Amino acid sequence: MRVSRSVEWGEMLGMRKVETHEQMPEEYRATLLKIIYALASTEFASVEQHQPWINQGPTPEDRYIQCQIAADEAHQGFIDCRLLRSFGKDGAEKADELLELRTGEHPIAAFNVTFDSWVETVGFCFIMDLVAWYHLHAMENCSYAPLAREMTSMVHEEKFHASFGERRIRDLVKNKEYQKVAKAGKSEAQAAVDKWYPHALDTFGKAESKFSDLAVGYGIRRWGNEELREMYRAEIDTKIAQIGLTVPDPQKGRSVH
Ligand SMILES: [Fe+2]
Ligand SMILES: [Fe+2]
Repeated sequence: MRVSRSVEWGEMLGMRKVETHEQMPEEYRATLLKIIYALASTEFASVEQHQPWINQGPTPEDRYIQCQIAADEAHQGFIDCRLLRSFGKDGAEKADELLELRTGEHPIAAFNVTFDSWVETVGFCFIMDLVAWYHLHAMENCSYAPLAREMTSMVHEEKFHASFGERRIRDLVKNKEYQKVAKAGKSEAQAAVDKWYPHALDTFGKAESKFSDLAVGYGIRRWGNEELREMYRAEIDTKIAQIGLTVPDPQKGRSVH
């Protein structure tokens, strides 16, 4: 997507996009800082989640694509950190803090959950990387120009991760050769979908959220928490059903409402 020079939605519609932190009203700055911090935290956390499975997939393609995914997440985290540092002292402190966090300390619950098998690893890609794609898609062409420019490459990386996960979950359900090398099949694929689905829905945040309203109003995110969750749910539910698996109950196992 081409990045325009002006703000595309919200209260600042038509104004020139924001380039530096000196141009930001205080509330805009605080909202943006919180969003980039949350985003960066998920990138570094998922590197740790992927780490035990690097070079462990059942086929050469699995091993190298999964390595590429872990590398993409680290790279995205560093880009987010560079953006945080551009805010000055408080942003730089946030970036330093993120680099120190380990599994169990990450701010978003789903990213402290371990990948206990290869099937859970590709299940995470299928279910959670599509969540990541929606979060990034919501910030394409956003009012903060440096972030909008980064989205032009990041959204495609997330689509790649999600489509790899989707293909492997489908192979686990339908492809006898892959079932043989992965030593797993439909029931394991269903269990992985069941594990990540409630986390995926929780990751969109509370339905009623002042923070989400501010992010939309300031042209940073195009859709609010609930709207984005429903968009995601319509797509993932269709994919799960098409593969031949059961769509989990959207209320079950949820902790964010
Ligand atoms: Fe990512
Ligand atoms: Fe990803």
